[in-house]
Amino acid sequence: MYTNEVYSKPVTRNNGLHKWWHLRWVKRIGISVIILIICAVTFALVLNFVVFAPKKSETSTTAASSSSSLTTTSSVTPTTTLSQTTATDTTQQSEPTTTTTLTTISTTTTTTTTTTTSTITSKPEWTMTGNMSMPRSDHTASTLANRSVLVAGGLNWNGYPNSTEMYNPSTGTWTTTGSMNIGRMYHTASTLSNGLVLVAGGINANGVLNSTELYNPSTGTWATAGSLSIARREHTASTLSNGLVLVAGGINANGVLNSTELYNPSTSTWAITGSMNVGRAYHIASTLANGLVLVAGGTSGTDILSSAELYNPSTGTWTTAGSMSIARREHRASILENGKVLVIGGESSGTIYRNSAELYESI
Ligand SMILES: *[C@@H]1O[C@H](CO)[C@@H](O)[C@H](O)[C@H]1NC(C)=O
Ligand SMILES: *[C@@H]1O[C@H](CO)[C@@H](O)[C@H](O)[C@H]1NC(C)=O
Ligand SMILES: *[C@@H]1O[C@H](CO)[C@@H](O)[C@H](O)[C@H]1NC(C)=O
Ligand SMILES: *[C@@H]1O[C@H](CO)[C@@H](O)[C@H](O)[C@H]1NC(C)=O
Ligand SMILES: *[C@@H]1O[C@H](CO)[C@@H](O)[C@H](O)[C@H]1NC(C)=O
Repeated sequence: MYTNEVYSKPVTRNNGLHKWWHLRWVKRIGISVIILIICAVTFALVLNFVVFAPKKSETSTTAASSSSSLTTTSSVTPTTTLSQTTATDTTQQSEPTTTTTLTTISTTTTTTTTTTTSTITSKPEWTMTGNMSMPRSDHTASTLANRSVLVAGGLNWNGYPNSTEMYNPSTGTWTTTGSMNIGRMYHTASTLSNGLVLVAGGINANGVLNSTELYNPSTGTWATAGSLSIARREHTASTLSNGLVLVAGGINANGVLNSTELYNPSTSTWAITGSMNVGRAYHIASTLANGLVLVAGGTSGTDILSSAELYNPSTGTWTTAGSMSIARREHRASILENGKVLVIGGESSGTIYRNSAELYESI
C-alpha cells in the first residue's frame, strides 16, 4: 500500500508532468499555426496589392471605373476631369457615407495607374436623353454661359430648318426657342464673351449665305447682325481673346476663299482683314494660348493642303506656319492641355482617308 502509495505519487506526478508537456506542445503547435496563418495572409495581401498591383491594373481599372461611375451617377456633379484627386474631392463633398468608402477604394487602386485617370473618370456608357423637336444634320451646337446647349439649323427631309432649340442638362429636355431669320446648314456658331451666340454664313436652297444672326439667351430671340463681306460656307469661326470673331476661308459659288473677316460685337459689323496665303475650305482653326489663330489643311479647290498659317490679331496678317506631314481636309483639331494642337485624320484625296495624327507646337 505504502509502496504503492509512494509509487503511485510519482506515477500521478509523472502522469501530470506528461500531460503538462503534452499541453505545452499543443500550445506551441497552435501558436505556430496561428503565426503561420497570419504570415500567409500578410504574404498574400502583399502579393495582391504590392507585387501584382501594376499587372492587375487593367482588371482593377474596370472595377474602379464601375465604382466611380456609380458615384458619378448618384451625384450630378459636372465631370470636369482635372485630376483624380479633385474628382473624388467633389464627390466626397456631395456624397454622405456609404459611397465615400467606394470612392476611397477606387482612388487607392487607380493611383497605381497614372495616365489612365481620364479613361476612368469618363462614364463608358451612353444613355438616351430628350429628343429634339425635329431631326437635324449639319447643324451647330453651342454651349451657353448657363450650361444649356443651343442647337441651330441644319438639314432634314423638310429642307433647311430656321428653328433652333435649347437643351437643358439639368432636366434632359429640349425647348424650342426663337427661329433664325434664315434657315441654314454648313454655317458656324460662336458663343461670344457677352453671352450672345453668333451664327455666320452657311447654305440653304437659295445658295451660299452672307447673312449672320445673333441669339440673345435672355430674350430667346434671333436678330440679324451685319452681313459678311463675302458669302461663305465650310469656313471656320474663331473667337479671339479680344472678343472679336475671326471667320476664315470657306467656299461659295466663286470657289474657295482666301479672304478672312472680323466680327466686332460692339458694332455688330464685319470687316475684311488679311487674306490667307492660300484659299481654304474644310480646314481647321484653333485659337492658341498666345492669341494667334492657327489654320491648317483644307482644300484650295484644286489641291488638298498640308500647309498651315497663323493669324496675328494685332497686325491683322497671316504668316505661313510650316506644313503638316500629310495633306488633310475635313480633319479635326483639339488644343491639348500642354498648348499643342492635335490634328487628327481627314482625307488626302477622294480615296485616301487618314488614321494619322500630328501635333503643332508654337515656338
Ligand atoms: C425619341 O424618338 C424616337 C424615334 O425617333 C423614339 O423611339 C423615342 O422613344 C423618343 N424618345 C423620347 C424620350 O421621346
Ligand atoms: C421659319 O420657317 C418656318 C417654316 O418654314 C416659317 O413658317 C417661318 O415663317 C420661318 N420663321 C422665320 C422667322 O423666318
Ligand atoms: C448679301 O447677300 C444678299 C443676297 O445674296 C445681297 O443682296 C447683299 O447685297 C449681300 N450683302 C453684302 C454685304 O454683300
Ligand atoms: C439658360 O438660359 C435660358 C434662357 O434664359 C433658359 O431657357 C435655360 O433654361 C437656362 N438653362 C439652365 C440650365 O438654367
Ligand atoms: C486671294 O484671292 C484673290 C481672288 O482669288 C486673289 O486676287 C488674291 O491675289 C489672293 N490673295 C492672296 C494673298 O493670295
